[in-house]
Amino acid sequence: MSRILSAVQPTNNLHIGNYLGAIKQWVELQEGNETLFFIVDLHALTVYQKPETLSQNILDVARMYLALGLNPNKSIMFVQSHVKEHAELAWILGTITKMGELERMTQFKDKSAQHANNINAGMFTYPVLMAADILLYDTEKVPVGEDQKQHVELTRDLAERFNKLYGKVFTVPEPLISKSGARIMGLDDPAKKMSKSAASAYNYISLLDDVQTVKKKIKKAVTDSGTEVMGGASRPALNNLLTIYSLFSGKSVSALEKEFAGKGYGNFKDGLADTLNAFLEEFQEKFHAIKESEVRDILADGAARAVARAALKMAQIKETIGLL
Ligand code: ADP
Ligand code: TRP
Repeated sequence: MSRILSAVQPTNNLHIGNYLGAIKQWVELQEGNETLFFIVDLHALTVYQKPETLSQNILDVARMYLALGLNPNKSIMFVQSHVKEHAELAWILGTITKMGELERMTQFKDKSAQHANNINAGMFTYPVLMAADILLYDTEKVPVGEDQKQHVELTRDLAERFNKLYGKVFTVPEPLISKSGARIMGLDDPAKKMSKSAASAYNYISLLDDVQTVKKKIKKAVTDSGTEVMGGASRPALNNLLTIYSLFSGKSVSALEKEFAGKGYGNFKDGLADTLNAFLEEFQEKFHAIKESEVRDILADGAARAVARAALKMAQIKETIGLL
């Protein structure tokens, strides 16, 4: 039994990389653990968001969590900004974080290159708020995709530094990265991770893409030279497609290679698109059936449960560092 916590940003719709790298694990971890899953709306603000779109995205991501199998009777589900202690602790942790540590973060380097006209202080201190999210709840394990490992490692360093200065207040968390699916690559560029903020929609399969869109995107997906459906070190595109196919079908990569031996990329891509569509159709049916009022009730209940824990921890932290 461990205390497990994770979150995603409510920016655009989730894609299959978010599901395979993070949320699929969360659903499994709900059994036998204490789990908290939330939506980091404050983090999303580091890139300008249209207010109406942001509100809608927060509700949609919560609905996606539910449709993917998060169960509010098993997990605490909430919105980050509903628990003020996250921002409060982020300030305190910021005072023990070195500028150099933040300058090294690859996500900061990527995002500041991508949004060169709005490199704001929040983008820079983003990992400190993430550390606060994690440390506020005595989290032991953080299930995330590969790209977030560096942030969890910074969180560990901050927890250890704080504990050395003030005594043992924080649990030092560990990242939990799945063996397969932790880094799904872009369909249009298998050298880069699939990302919501990619320039082209052909980079990803959104969980809300319809049947025809999925077929089109898979058809256009980049492949390696040759015609054989085969993975391997020199075949990044096929490796990625085989990984996705395997995780959605439950068949191993080698079984898929056998199944499609000599059949060419076209057949393989048809099979992959059908498998994805079967999953997505079932997901979307559940997604559309969940009412907004139900989502709002679940989030309000989750926030109340999260606040009860966060307030206690915050009182302990303040007392420890000498705040009156
Ligand atoms: P994005 O980079 O697409 O905006 P987020 O940063 O909101 O996605 O990530 C949400 C979660 O999904 C994190 O745990 C992250 O590690 C995981 N994730 C994001 N992209 C991928 C990917 N391409 N493959 C696997 N996991 C991913
Ligand atoms: N930074 C994470 C991402 O971009 C989201 C996140 C914020 C998070 N706070 C967290 C993930 C706490 C795990 C735990 O995906």
